[in-house]
Amino acid sequence: MKHFLDLADWTAADLQFLLDAARALKEQHKREGNPPLLAGKALGMIFQKPSLRTRVSFEMAMQHVGGHALYLSPQEIGLGKRESIADIARVLGRYVDAIMARTFEHEHILELARWSPVPVINGLTDYNHPCQAMADLLTIYEEFGRLEGLHLAYVGDSNNVANSLLMGAAQFGMKMSIGSPVGYQPKPAVLEKARQLSRGRLQVTVTDDPVAAVTGADVIYTDTWTSMGQETEAEQRRAIFPPYQVNSALLKHAAEHAIVLHCLPAHRGEEITDEVADGPQSRLFPQAENRLHAQKAILVYLLAGREVLEDLTEKKGSKKDKKK
Ligand code: CP
Ligand code: NVA
Repeated sequence: MKHFLDLADWTAADLQFLLDAARALKEQHKREGNPPLLAGKALGMIFQKPSLRTRVSFEMAMQHVGGHALYLSPQEIGLGKRESIADIARVLGRYVDAIMARTFEHEHILELARWSPVPVINGLTDYNHPCQAMADLLTIYEEFGRLEGLHLAYVGDSNNVANSLLMGAAQFGMKMSIGSPVGYQPKPAVLEKARQLSRGRLQVTVTDDPVAAVTGADVIYTDTWTSMGQETEAEQRRAIFPPYQVNSALLKHAAEHAIVLHCLPAHRGEEITDEVADGPQSRLFPQAENRLHAQKAILVYLLAGREVLEDLTEKKGSKKDKKK
């Protein structure tokens, strides 16, 4: 059973294929709408934490291809509390064709996948956020026309989003620099996993100097200083992180053509200023939109098969060729 739990589980070629498929689906959606590739299929969505983008983009992605999505709130499911994860997976998997879940513990999504008779998609855990990273890579790919060799600088808390970006950078041979305070830098095991995954292609630097991290970068990325589930640490983090704010002064150290990304929700005035979030280098909203397109490609791949997407990307390829 193929799941979408971690960018490290897929080959770089398959991830590139998904990005190309996402572009084709996006173009088709905007031009004429997508055909009902997932007609009659249902996605069960388990949420242990709040969400705007993940919930709505998955729901709309299913709708665009003729499928249905079912939202299951934390109150309803009580993952591992009201019922064991193994039982939930085995029951829900008999009603729906795929499960998307947002959990606290990463082990919980792995447990769901272990027992589920249908594909499981990771909609964020405390460890990672692979669907977000796919939308981010799609945004960067659209902007620069390539990923390999680009310099991605992540500034702030080395959290779940940073972990998935590291795996993405490793898969695509990007250069990644991370500027985080000591104590909030990526775990050595995560860095090691990324290095191994890249087969020596990933150049990664970790520093507590935000200026050093962004110098010459093509992409600057930040996220909240306090992730969901860490609310009791918010005050302490607010005292530590201000030097890591992405503001106009920091942006000056990046390449002139640099773009700024943030997975959102943003805490404006904390990790990012309004000036940057709403400025000419910001791609925050196209990035949020790309959740829809990237996830649609993942859903069609897992539920209808790669061939369906091959047809779509080939059509796109031949059109491009004709233009040349
Ligand atoms: N970026 C992201 O996952 O947003 P939500 O928490 O609103 O889903
Ligand atoms: N790091 C953030 C991402 C939200 C999409 C969190 O986990 O809350």
